[in-house]
Amino acid sequence: MGILGKMKKAEPVFWQNDAKKSWAEIKDLPISINEIDEAAQRLQRFASFFLKVRPETESKNGLIESDLFHAKNLEKQYARTNEQIFLKRDDRLPIAGSIKARGGIYEVLKFAEQVAMENTMIDPTKDYAQFANKQFKELFSNYEIIVGSTGNLGLSIGMMSAILGFSVTVHMSNDAKQWKKDQLRENGVTVVEHAGDYSKAVERGRQEASENKNAHFIDDENSMDLFAGYAVAARRLEDQLSQYGVQYSEQKPISVYLPCGVGGGPGGVVFGLKTIFGDAVKCYFIEPVQSPCMLLGMVTGKHHQISVQEIGLTNLTIADGLAVGTPSKFVGEMMMSLLDGIFTVTDDQLIQFMDCFHSNEAIMIEPSAAATLIGIDHGETMSNTNILWLTGGGLVPQNEWEQYFKR
Ligand SMILES: Cc1ncc(COP(=O)(O)O)c(C=O)c1O
Repeated sequence: MGILGKMKKAEPVFWQNDAKKSWAEIKDLPISINEIDEAAQRLQRFASFFLKVRPETESKNGLIESDLFHAKNLEKQYARTNEQIFLKRDDRLPIAGSIKARGGIYEVLKFAEQVAMENTMIDPTKDYAQFANKQFKELFSNYEIIVGSTGNLGLSIGMMSAILGFSVTVHMSNDAKQWKKDQLRENGVTVVEHAGDYSKAVERGRQEASENKNAHFIDDENSMDLFAGYAVAARRLEDQLSQYGVQYSEQKPISVYLPCGVGGGPGGVVFGLKTIFGDAVKCYFIEPVQSPCMLLGMVTGKHHQISVQEIGLTNLTIADGLAVGTPSKFVGEMMMSLLDGIFTVTDDQLIQFMDCFHSNEAIMIEPSAAATLIGIDHGETMSNTNILWLTGGGLVPQNEWEQYFKR
């Protein structure tokens, strides 16, 4: 049976991307290194603001950044001689507890800076801690930020917008967890709940924003700003690897495993990684068997013009962040030349993986992030250096986390 046949039956698969090119052959991408530079510089400008309003960013000098953790216990269970396993702890990112803190916060900051500039509010003699001043909040309260989300993007955009003083509305899909909606409402964010899935929530947000001239819609399916914000992560990884003395080369590449929903988060990280490591990195996505939208788009070449529902899948999964039926409008095409492969996983595997992270490394993450374990469980794509990109779960209340094991 071909791969599509297995996907239709919701069987787990591994697809190797034979269309991948070497980094030297890549041209005509819709985004350039300049946009990552610009994003890195803007985040640096806002470091003084974060140091003022979110003291927990102090250990990273005001940057929204996570640690790279050497998973020695997982290594005992999964690694062969010379293989190392690292965890990129985006589940611990400040403000949102997920990878969505990278792109989401970045796009809100970019919009805030633009509004402040248009209104000549920025005092060039002072640093960006001034964004915490009352006058900025008053200005931003005249603008609305709107987003559609399965949960984590909404959490990051909602929290960041509220901190700056924007009026903010999050359209949540039916997958979004109650505690995420509660947290947003407690912080003054308007949450609109939809009976439909992620694509429907995004569509409603887009429509609402088009009716308000002071509204900025954060478009998870199309946004280059989100993408650039995610891509910055790669720059900082280089230093983190060197602190562990990790050596890599084109002959001994690093393997990186990233959970994929609409594709912006993992796609941005892959693009960023390629600009730094080139052919010395191999990148893999992981999707749920019922929501393999990126894989379906790439295998058929139809990208965002096909949905998982069209091949009889439900798009229902416990990995709420990955419950996306139609991929981003540009990421899949870009990944055709950059990505090494895609795994799909069942909900039962996700539960086992969550348990494995907990029992080996005492880490409680959400199912989407636990999907990364397939990379080392499957084994064949492992390199000497393996990075599981833990994309979320840091804010999940313990009783919520325990519920996953009582299904
Ligand atoms: C925990 C987690 N991991 C991974 C992803 C996937 O990111 P994207 O939808 O940008 O592919 C999401 C998306 O919300 C998420 O919440």
